[in-house]
Amino acid sequence: MNGLVNWVEIQKRLMRMPAMAEKDPGKFWGKTAFMYDKMSKLETDYTINQLDTLILAPTDSVLDVGCGPGRLAVPIAKRVARVTAIDASDEMLRYCMKNAQEQGITNITPKVLDWSKAVVGEYIEKHDVVIASRSVGLQDLIKLNSAANKYVFILSFANSPSLKEVQMSFFEGISEEKLPDVRMNRMFGYNIMFNILYDLGIDPNLKVVKDGFTRKYDSRQDAYDDLRQLDEVTREREPIFRKNVDKYLLEQPDGGVRLLRETKTYIMWWEPQESDIGLL
Ligand SMILES: C[S@@+](CC[C@H](N)C(=O)[O-])C[C@H]1O[C@@H](n2cnc3c(N)ncnc32)[C@H](O)[C@@H]1O
Repeated sequence: MNGLVNWVEIQKRLMRMPAMAEKDPGKFWGKTAFMYDKMSKLETDYTINQLDTLILAPTDSVLDVGCGPGRLAVPIAKRVARVTAIDASDEMLRYCMKNAQEQGITNITPKVLDWSKAVVGEYIEKHDVVIASRSVGLQDLIKLNSAANKYVFILSFANSPSLKEVQMSFFEGISEEKLPDVRMNRMFGYNIMFNILYDLGIDPNLKVVKDGFTRKYDSRQDAYDDLRQLDEVTREREPIFRKNVDKYLLEQPDGGVRLLRETKTYIMWWEPQESDIGLL
């Protein structure tokens, strides 16, 4: 159906990735793997809110499109029969499989695959549940729809700081380079995905859940030493870095500190529609 507004075009313009990411997504994203893995571990306590919203059966096969270090793929694997974790970056998949191994999980199949080139039925078979979280999968909802038997779930940040924004806030004023503005704008939030789906003839379900990044440290020094690894800080800029981090450290009664940065994530899902999707 042609909607009143061309939401697909709006999304295309907003989600445009740097040229390097489009040319070689594996290389581009591989460079962020260490940082992303570390940030997603700070998110573990809150990720449960996303997991508990997913509709999963113990017999399900799940496809995680752009799985990264397995933030979702690894805990999902504990709840289903098998997970296919695809990513353009072998470095991300390496983290994913390391995280799986550390938790004794053996039912994840990793696949290096550029989803934008993947053809469902050729490179990748249908799965019961398809998940695309903060990933390239969000760019083509029809393709996700065609890969699922039971449900498609899409997830991203909901009008609240993204992982990138949280990470960058620790390093503000540290580099001479002006950091890109990655703040969320409510005008261009999950309303776009909702409207694209609506115009495809789908009635999506929506839930917004609390998300966040947290960790308890024995001391401020431990927090600085841990979070400093998320980027680079010169000796001269160390005081700026500490002041940035201090904004998010809460004193604990036992003498330690807790990093706390809350945000929100949306989860949108639907039952896949027939092949005439979009022509309704
Ligand atoms: C922001 S991370 C999200 C990771 C994970 N889904 C999550 O929610 O934590 C985006 C992931 O998508 C992967 N990716 C980017 N472009 C891709 C493509 N064309 N095909 C497959 N994966 C891609 C990246 O390598 C990265 O691991």
